[in-house]
Amino acid sequence: MSGQWHRKREILAHLNGGGFVSGQLLAQSLGISRAAVGKHIAALTDYGIDICSVKGKGYKLFAPVFLIDAPQLLAHCGNRCFYFDELASTNAFLLQHADELQCGDICISEFQSAGRGRRGRKWVSPYGSHLYFSMFWHLPQGMSQAMGLSLVVACSLVQTLQTLGAHDVGVKWPNDIFFEDRKLAGVLIEMTGTADSGCDLVIGIGVNIAMPEQQGALIDQPWSDLQQIWEHPDKTLLAKTLQRQLCADLRVFEQAGLAAFTARWHEADIYLGKEVRLLLGNNSISGSYQGIDAQGGIILKTADGLEHFVGGEISLRAN
Ligand code: BTN
Repeated sequence: MSGQWHRKREILAHLNGGGFVSGQLLAQSLGISRAAVGKHIAALTDYGIDICSVKGKGYKLFAPVFLIDAPQLLAHCGNRCFYFDELASTNAFLLQHADELQCGDICISEFQSAGRGRRGRKWVSPYGSHLYFSMFWHLPQGMSQAMGLSLVVACSLVQTLQTLGAHDVGVKWPNDIFFEDRKLAGVLIEMTGTADSGCDLVIGIGVNIAMPEQQGALIDQPWSDLQQIWEHPDKTLLAKTLQRQLCADLRVFEQAGLAAFTARWHEADIYLGKEVRLLLGNNSISGSYQGIDAQGGIILKTADGLEHFVGGEISLRAN
């Protein structure tokens, strides 16, 4: 951890208690000037943390910050775990180091300056507010084996959250995790390799834990966070459980394919049996959503009968 993050973490530890903490007290405890405290506070605000500053009272966090307990994670993770205060993107980091990685190695950062979402979108990644997690995997049979993989990852994430007690979470095709009709988590899988020889995968997962208000306002769709489900979300436990569950599910997927997950998917699917609209580029098709097929595509009952839609720019909306 760099010296500048050491100081910022000390400040956050004082503020995470909940109330106002004066600049003077922070300066005294850290052994730095009040001006230096002010600079760290300004920088933390730039990292996406909502900090309220009131003259005569000091500083207060609007929402708590959740940091990984790195020693605990490293001690219990059977694989290598690369942990950072800040990175451009945990997916980008693992992709850059793919040659040196083994299946199950993970990367977690407390902040991403260029967090990537699906369809080229940015993934809002304020410091310490959420889990930004990527895992490396290698598929020996190449990209053709990867069909349906993103649905498996979504099932894995749902299972992880349910194991930890969040029972009312569901999936929206192909791999969004929802809580009370709002997005709780997203998955972005990036890969390198060829269709028929081995391919390297980076499975990126973002789980909202405690969304700062100003950052939430930047997101163009309804969102939820784990704080709405648990009073004290445990980010380290979430990361450990997710890593283990993903490894176990990916091994099953390698042996048995998507078929081993179809029942789990349908159990968690929030749109099953509902009237939906599929957006296909500039066109849209309405019908009754019948779940997924053997390839992980969508089955829709339309006026023309049962129709299957796979991949591409398909987007599912409630009618
Ligand atoms: C989505 O758009 O729903 C997918 C979001 C995936 C975000 C995660 S956060 C960790 C990993 N690193 C990234 O840059 N993106 C993924």
